[in-house]
Amino acid sequence: MARYASVLDLIGDTPMVDVSALSPTESVRIWLKLEGKNPAGSVKDRVALALVDAAEADGVLVPGKPDQVLLEPSSGNTGIALALVCRLRGYSLKVVLPDNVSTERRQLLELYGAEIIDSPGAEGSNGAVRRARSLAIDHPEWVFLYQYANPANPAVHFETTGPEILRDCPEITHFVAGLGTTGTIVGVGSYLKEQRPSVQVWAVEPPAGELVDGLRSLDDGYVPPVFTDAEGEALLDRRIVVRPRESIEWTRRLTDLGLFVGVSTGAAMAGAIKCAAGIHEGVDASIVVISADDGWKYLSGDVWGGDLDDVVDRASRTIYF
Ligand SMILES: Cc1ncc(COP(=O)(O)O)c(C=O)c1O
Repeated sequence: MARYASVLDLIGDTPMVDVSALSPTESVRIWLKLEGKNPAGSVKDRVALALVDAAEADGVLVPGKPDQVLLEPSSGNTGIALALVCRLRGYSLKVVLPDNVSTERRQLLELYGAEIIDSPGAEGSNGAVRRARSLAIDHPEWVFLYQYANPANPAVHFETTGPEILRDCPEITHFVAGLGTTGTIVGVGSYLKEQRPSVQVWAVEPPAGELVDGLRSLDDGYVPPVFTDAEGEALLDRRIVVRPRESIEWTRRLTDLGLFVGVSTGAAMAGAIKCAAGIHEGVDASIVVISADDGWKYLSGDVWGGDLDDVVDRASRTIYF
């Protein structure tokens, strides 16, 4: 048992669980790092706290000063995590969201007191980014932390997520994670390559034009500055395309091991399975996969129960997360 002074102290140091029972190659172990165990429910808790801490350290945000407003475009998890941090630190938060997001997402943002600004659902997360950037120009008094370009995003993964992975799985040979802002893969990937140059870094993305919640294709018209600044292309050993259907199938398969996780975890897991399938039987390998969040926020999408074709069709129209 441990005791903590603040909910923010619960962020990070997440557990890993063995999911090798699903590995197609017996000598390849697969470990899932459960970021859904963070207090606001996702890997983005680390990022939200790091963005606010960095802005306070730079004097952009002043703790205790009234009427400070933050603005962020988010396809979900960063908005919720920022809403938690802002609530505890006393800042107002405006989140730009595509208008077709799941109800759970809106409810969680409102629960922590954030204000939602809609962007056109058909434009997805790129539309939210565009709307937020133009609002930031119109309102220079608002603080625009912009996780897609903020170095605090990959830095927190370099400083915390990466070291936790190497500490808990020193035998790691491959790292697999989905691409959203690319902060996770850039931060963890850079750390692992620095410490263990032989570790392979595999990125998972949907095909251009298809939706897997939380993920983006680098071929979809916007490459985050976080990725280009770090020369991300050189960091990646492979980019694997995973379709929405496979993502949902693997999200369901994980329940066989008692794991209730979000759809981007299914995508990352599908990528890890492809990675494991390419390794010869008898060659020892250990793949660490990021599970970005738990399944709660996807329940209204009937990800686990509904007919697979219907779920895939709905997922193409609604952003569950
Ligand atoms: C559910 C989910 N999975 C994966 C990711 C990708 O993480 P990153 O932004 O670090 O690339 C995100 C990012 O928003 C996410 O919300």
